[in-house]
Amino acid sequence: MLAACNTTEETANLTEDNARTATASRKSCPSEEIRAELLKKDAKARARFAAIEAGTEKFIQAKKLGRVLADGSVDIPVVVNVLYRTTAENVSATRIAEQIAVLNADFAGTNTDASKIPTEFSSLKAGDTKVRFHLIKTVRKATTKTSWSTNDAMKKSSTGGIDATSPASYFNIWVVGSMGGVLGYATFPESAGTAVDGVVIAAPYFGKTGATSPFNLGRTGTHEVGHYLNLRHIWGDATCGSDLVTDTPTQTGANYGKPTYPLYNTCGGVKRSVMFMNYMDYVDDAAMFMFSTGQKARIQATVASSGPRAGLRVY
Ligand code: ARG
Ligand code: ZN
Ligand code: CA
Repeated sequence: MLAACNTTEETANLTEDNARTATASRKSCPSEEIRAELLKKDAKARARFAAIEAGTEKFIQAKKLGRVLADGSVDIPVVVNVLYRTTAENVSATRIAEQIAVLNADFAGTNTDASKIPTEFSSLKAGDTKVRFHLIKTVRKATTKTSWSTNDAMKKSSTGGIDATSPASYFNIWVVGSMGGVLGYATFPESAGTAVDGVVIAAPYFGKTGATSPFNLGRTGTHEVGHYLNLRHIWGDATCGSDLVTDTPTQTGANYGKPTYPLYNTCGGVKRSVMFMNYMDYVDDAAMFMFSTGQKARIQATVASSGPRAGLRVY
């Protein structure tokens, strides 16, 4: 603190004479004047000032609304949009609650199968990523469509779908009957707040009860929400590609089924034990049970007040 900026407490301990001087010097505490000068002459500083105040206001509002929990977790409001032709496709409220519970466990690192994380990777496990999920409402609509594609038709009423509810502040999930071989897909944060922003999951892979094995543990949801929160596939969508996370070992490509640990891949002449049990690989639901510390950092950057999905902190 600047010496000229006396606090009230300090002032109280001074003699009357000194107090007068202190009062005078407190009045002349020059921080605001210096700021005013800076803001007058520096447009970039003005922009930073505006961004700081906007971010501060957003954070305070979010806290008021309970979207930032006491432990600093961001409680993401979820809208589930169900497009159904058959009763099986009209997923029950119980099943929706199961899917939300899976997301909450997996993103908090409280999933019981976290105990299966190999010792080799235990120091890299994310544990609690500090995001939570909270169902706001369910929207249901009957359709005659038997199959959907990845063209976002389900996200617009004009194409037989359901319009997103406030995508800038709500996380929208669409559940559709079938997308052929596609279990689900997501938009990344560059789509934040747009009409197509969110995650799509085919009904057989949504929730647990009545879902289709080996994708019946709700992990398609975990994987797609990983994308929504800016995580890439662990193999970087290329042979020995990068997922922009340093602690996930580079691997040759996607893994499927239930691989046996340890599984070694060689990339750039380096042989590594790969983290196929990561949610961002393509293994079966029962074979994936962790995010890494590096992935947690990306998730948190995404929902931070300065991040691309800061809107989820306010509603
Ligand atoms: N987008 C991926 C797909 O459609 C999802 C993979 C999810 N993996 C899982 N085990 N549920 O293939
Ligand atoms: Zn994916
Ligand atoms: Ca990596």
